[in-house]
Amino acid sequence: MKIGIDKIGFFTSHLFVDMKELAFARAEDPNKYLIGIGQSKMAVIPPSQDVVTMAANAAARILTTADKEQISYVIFATESGIDNSKATAVYLARLLGLKKEIRAIELKQACYGATAGIQLARGFVALNPDSKVLVIAADNARYGIKSPGEPTQGGGAVALLIGTNPQILALEDGSTAYTQDIMDFWRPLGKNEALVDGRYSEDVYLNFFSHVWQAYLDKTGYQLGDFAALLFHLPYTKMGLKALRIALKDARPDEAVNFVQEFEHARTFNREVGNLYTGSLYLSLLSLLFNSEKLRAGQRIGLFSYGSGAEAEFYSGIVQPNFKQGLMNVNYLQVLNERQEVSVSEYEKLYQQHLFSAQEGRVAYDTDPARYFFAGISDFKRQYQEK
Ligand code: CAA
Repeated sequence: MKIGIDKIGFFTSHLFVDMKELAFARAEDPNKYLIGIGQSKMAVIPPSQDVVTMAANAAARILTTADKEQISYVIFATESGIDNSKATAVYLARLLGLKKEIRAIELKQACYGATAGIQLARGFVALNPDSKVLVIAADNARYGIKSPGEPTQGGGAVALLIGTNPQILALEDGSTAYTQDIMDFWRPLGKNEALVDGRYSEDVYLNFFSHVWQAYLDKTGYQLGDFAALLFHLPYTKMGLKALRIALKDARPDEAVNFVQEFEHARTFNREVGNLYTGSLYLSLLSLLFNSEKLRAGQRIGLFSYGSGAEAEFYSGIVQPNFKQGLMNVNYLQVLNERQEVSVSEYEKLYQQHLFSAQEGRVAYDTDPARYFFAGISDFKRQYQEK
């Protein structure tokens, strides 16, 4: 029985800041951000969007009435949670109009969370082949303004529908995981921005990649040539390129060219959006599926998932014949091109306007074109609405 990713939907806000403008404002050479970090634009998440609304907007792009009937489990991966007790998945299920006979939970392990969600979903579907699982990866990637992490912010949500006979990617047996207690990136209770030891986090990411990649090759007997493309968690796109270079160290030149070309397709959308934290790997998968001209049914894709703190997993899947149909005809190039640019000072103002768990207040949402939005906090309760 094939189990895997049947559909993928993505949402980010309608606002972005141009990385060249951010570089000028921070007295940096624009090429540091464009080439050194590998980012062209950065999504600016307005106060009227949070992980719940972004997830609802992403899921609404893919779910049919029939899907909603079949979903019996919602797994919401995020490290931008909005409550210490109630799961984001419960709000989401109500907003999407899912039936009440379901499980709905929230998962956290930094940027690795969605991969854990997919693996849980796979096990659940194996036991319940008539069911589908909605896995969400949603985050608002926030570092301090003017901090070294600032150009690696972004945000958005990826919705993945997991089921039998998937249209996009059939997951293969076997994966390799690695966990070690490390302080490379974390967000202590009460803080609304992440703390990070930037250079150290890069080293840990690359060490964990080397470990799970080699372990995966040893376990499966596959070689580099058995893959059509390698995908990476992309906190910023240069990070994935550094990991790809490790995988390609013994590759033939023609083989390496192919992997680099597919990597360029796989980072196209991430370059335009920035970090999605746990959704980044899956935005990269969407980017490859949407932009690659060579990808064919039957080919194997390798996926490297990394979450600071730290946990990593490498796994693979086989591209399915109807993979384009699983994107539900959404023209993501157009979606990204139609966004509105904001100046650096407007971005800074929006950054400060976010309401966090215990702050009462209303949020300006009139200019937000998204279907689902966050209207504010009243009596400690978050108010979600649909246009
Ligand atoms: N032209 C071209 N390249 C330039 C340049 C120019 N004019 N100026 C600088 N560069 C290059 C540098 O050589 C460097 O390249 P390498 O990494 O290949 O050496 C790159 O631009 C970045 O320059 P710096 O090292 O000077 O940048 P920095 O010290 O300001 O910070 C950073 C970079 C550490 C990534 C920082 O942005 C950061 O802390 N980001 C957040 C942490 C992060 O994302 N870590 C990734 C692993 S953890 C993870 O993956 C989980 C997650 O999602 C957070």
